[in-house]
Amino acid sequence: MPTINVVTRDGTSKVIEAQEGLSLMEAIRNAGFDELLALCGGCNSCATCHVHIDDASLPKIPAISDDENDLLDSSEHRNANSRLSCQVPMTADLDGLVATIAKED
Ligand code: FES
Repeated sequence: MPTINVVTRDGTSKVIEAQEGLSLMEAIRNAGFDELLALCGGCNSCATCHVHIDDASLPKIPAISDDENDLLDSSEHRNANSRLSCQVPMTADLDGLVATIAKED
């Protein structure tokens, strides 16, 4: 099972196991991080699952869709490492990924 590092808004980091087949959002939520709201439940329509992905892991993630791109554009905190975590499927390849929960908009 891939191990990932989640960094919260106050800078605290915690290593968790992320089951393959889940989305990154589900893995983070299942580990008890309430500050990742994920209000739409993973339907790619709320942008409250916004995270920043480390540089090394970013190329291993499927390309961003137009819908995800549009939603991220609505965030003041978007940067080049931004993704919606519900659109990131967990695979063994993502072992070591670092996801920093984006500031709230
Ligand atoms: S949970 Fe709503 S867009 Fe990801």
